[in-house]
Amino acid sequence: MLKRLFVIGGFGSVLLSSTPARVQDLPTIKSTTVELPAGDALFPGGASADAINNNCLACHSPDMVLNQPPLPKATWEAEVHKMINTYKAPINEADVPAIVSYLMKTKGKD
Ligand code: HEC
Repeated sequence: MLKRLFVIGGFGSVLLSSTPARVQDLPTIKSTTVELPAGDALFPGGASADAINNNCLACHSPDMVLNQPPLPKATWEAEVHKMINTYKAPINEADVPAIVSYLMKTKGKD
């Protein structure tokens, strides 16, 4: 028993003596400035774009929409509901017609 304690104690002192005397230098966080290209911050069109600007910019830029090809109304309606149902966009159903109408005006296909 005593011998066993001695072995453990001996091992412990080896561990302790192998610990470096100085703690490694900690990484530091430095501030930097990044110039991002200016993107379209809002959907163009003034008041007619209010509904889409208020509901569709929380997660991505207008480019995500404006770079799409012209699409039929049913496709845009499905897209808005995909944002609501799949991506959990907090969009009031009452705003959907105004959003779809804007989408049809700017990216609609008859
Ligand atoms: C809750 C976050 C959120 C909101 C709010 C949101 N979207 Fe999206 N949207 C996403 C995500 C996530 C994607 C997929 C991004 C990717 O694939 O890189 C996406 C992608 C898209 C795309 C590209 C095609 C596709 O289906 O992937 C379009 C178009 C789009 N959104 C339109 C809209 C419109 C219009 C609105 C407002 C009605 C809106 N989004 C609001 C999250 C959101």
